[in-house]
Amino acid sequence: KKRIFSGIQPTGIFTLGNYLGAIKNWGPLQDEYNCIYSIVDQHAITVRQDPAKLRRQSLECYALLIACGIDPEKSVLFIQSHNPAHAQLSWVLGCFTQFGELSRMTQFKDKSQKNADNINAGLFTYPVLMAADILVYNADLVPVGQDQKQHLELARDIAGRFNGVYSPTFTVPEGYIPKTSAKIMSLTEPGKKMSKSDPNPNGYISILDDVDTILRKFKRAVTDSDGEVCYRAGKDGINNLMSIYASITGKDFAAIESEFTGKGYGDFKMAVGECVADCLRPVREDFARLMGDKAYLQACYTKGAESARQLSAKCLRKVYKKVGFIEL
Ligand code: TYM
Repeated sequence: KKRIFSGIQPTGIFTLGNYLGAIKNWGPLQDEYNCIYSIVDQHAITVRQDPAKLRRQSLECYALLIACGIDPEKSVLFIQSHNPAHAQLSWVLGCFTQFGELSRMTQFKDKSQKNADNINAGLFTYPVLMAADILVYNADLVPVGQDQKQHLELARDIAGRFNGVYSPTFTVPEGYIPKTSAKIMSLTEPGKKMSKSDPNPNGYISILDDVDTILRKFKRAVTDSDGEVCYRAGKDGINNLMSIYASITGKDFAAIESEFTGKGYGDFKMAVGECVADCLRPVREDFARLMGDKAYLQACYTKGAESARQLSAKCLRKVYKKVGFIEL
């Protein structure tokens, strides 16, 4: 079986963007692949975090992934800081990554613009740790949204370079990026991506929003003035709503266009809101149940950490040997 790795930062409750761009795919992949999924708390501290809040959010994210269909019996579901191999490999890989490459990362440029008072070295080397996450398990496939594509390319380059300098060591991973929902946009500013760090909560749907909140946010979603439900350049708002609807219902754009010909945006927005609310209801209910059973969650992440450490040990040993560290 091929191997899958993916991760998500515990910087808040996931948005519909995280869900449709990545997590929705993680569950179904479990049957065909050996899946390893991680809450990447070490990535989260590249931006200043309140410790109590980070701890709470990491547990919430862990429960949310289970609520989204990741089965801790089928997959390895663990918290990044519980497996030191990521940080260990990251150091080595950092010595095979150029300053110039990291300087070109668009997420680094964005984030350093937004956090001008804390452009720390971790923010800069973030993609190296991400490469280590993936490569330490020799993952074949990495299911992510569009915004992680550049980081993934870098991980591939680093793997190829290391393999070239020594001998084949790492699997060069492929991305697994959804067609219609790789980049879900903000509901209020459809020119920018939906993000959990958006200061305006009307811009994003949190996957724990209740039905009324979801419907209200969709009702207010920014569209355009030509009144036609069709996917076309320049119609960012409608294109985004169509992508959301397509991703959840499985309908293609042509089918959606004919479903709503002659109907107004009001009807369309209501239909999108309802399908999102229906899709997220079971997640919300499962989440509430899981958060009531902390002992279960703890047992799961403890087991996940053990499995993750076992799986990565061999790769790290091999790398240490190849670069010339004395074996202990
Ligand atoms: P993060 O936590 O920002 O997001 C988690 C996943 O959600 C996707 N995503 C989106 N997809 C579609 N539309 C959006 N608006 C949207 N916003 C977010 C992201 O592409 C991602 O797949 N660096 C990663 C975490 C990470 C990782 C890894 C991922 C660390 N190590 C190794 C894969 C493999 C991140 O910050 O994701």
